[in-house]
Amino acid sequence: MYDFKIEPTDTKMMYRDLASALEALVAGESDWVANMANAAALIFETLPDLNWAGFYRNVGGELVLGPFQGRPACIRIAFGSGVCGVAAQNRKVQRVEDVSAFPGHIACDSASSSELVVPIIRDDVLIGVLDLDSPKIGRFTNEDETGCVRLGEILARAS
Ligand code: SME
Repeated sequence: MYDFKIEPTDTKMMYRDLASALEALVAGESDWVANMANAAALIFETLPDLNWAGFYRNVGGELVLGPFQGRPACIRIAFGSGVCGVAAQNRKVQRVEDVSAFPGHIACDSASSSELVVPIIRDDVLIGVLDLDSPKIGRFTNEDETGCVRLGEILARAS
């Protein structure tokens, strides 16, 4: 049984515990889909105020929906389109305070108000993005960004 109940004490500690839990979950497992699935579940269960947590994979230069928690979402996103597509094209984290102000934001769930997208890169190849949505404006801080970049690195190494 996997029992990773992480208490949201202070954010730094929470991300430290989240990273340790993810390391433990992916240890010895190289299946990218399985690892994304467990990561989505762990993140969604741990981080407060999320309405969606999951992955888009780079499939031949297009983002295709991967494992996630939350409501059903858009399946295919072109590079350069929306928050995920911009993160994939520029290979840069996108931390969006208010998605309604982001040009071209793709609204999969009208409840989403802010978003954090982290590119996942292995051996200089973009393999996908981690996407987190929140119903709260300005939900994601610099600490969330640092913490989620670390989670992406753990996944990239494991796959
Ligand atoms: N809002 C994203 C689309 C994916 S959903 O949030 C799950 C975007 O603009 O790329």
